[in-house]
Amino acid sequence: MPFDHNDHYHRLLLRQVPRDCGAALDVGCGTGRFARRLAHLGIEVDAIDPSEEAIAEARVLSGRTADDRIPRFRHADVTEVELPKLHYDFISCLASLHHMPFGTVAALRDALAPGGVLVILGCCPEKTWLDWVWSLAAVPANAVARLVVTIKDKLRPAAAATGQERVKAPVRQPTVPLSEICREAAVLLPGCGIRRLLFWRYLLVYRSNG
Ligand SMILES: C[S@@+](CC[C@H](N)C(=O)[O-])C[C@H]1O[C@@H](n2cnc3c(N)ncnc32)[C@H](O)[C@@H]1O
Repeated sequence: MPFDHNDHYHRLLLRQVPRDCGAALDVGCGTGRFARRLAHLGIEVDAIDPSEEAIAEARVLSGRTADDRIPRFRHADVTEVELPKLHYDFISCLASLHHMPFGTVAALRDALAPGGVLVILGCCPEKTWLDWVWSLAAVPANAVARLVVTIKDKLRPAAAATGQERVKAPVRQPTVPLSEICREAAVLLPGCGIRRLLFWRYLLVYRSNG
């Protein structure tokens, strides 16, 4: 996949990291690309995923970089672990929330330190005409983006080969529509903002008042 929809939004997500962020958690980290970007900022990062293969690959890929700021990768299911309360300044969940009950966000909320930020890059199915309009609008933009990335990779084959993954993180089709996500989020994450993004994703941002 030359153009990854989750990776495309990394910069947008990094803009939500609070100033002086010391501790972060990446939930459903897969092979760890976003967790490594957080660690590269000098943040202490815990990154968890129940896929043994993905975590093993995340450790291998992190070992290959010259960077000594490496996330703590943990093979775990976030719905089964006890997260420390009021601890993290930043929690991210990229394309992974639809693998678990939406209510899991309550545990993530409680794990935020005062002033901490939870960001969810979410996936949801097309259910309404508006969903379909957004999806159709993304198709030509996606084709152009893929072409641009393919050309860049051809021009810089060495850079494209760096950090190539042998393992792909598990994927699942989303089932919960955006309207329901908005309803549940209003209860569990009061004051959060949710907006649609172009490439089949939504962005949810919640700030803890502490
Ligand atoms: C589509 S992948 C996304 C991986 C990564 N965040 C990315 O952006 O490339 C979804 C990830 O969520 C993980 N996942 C599924 N259920 C989970 C759970 N209960 N707790 C934590 N992670 C989970 C999967 O193993 C998978 O690695």
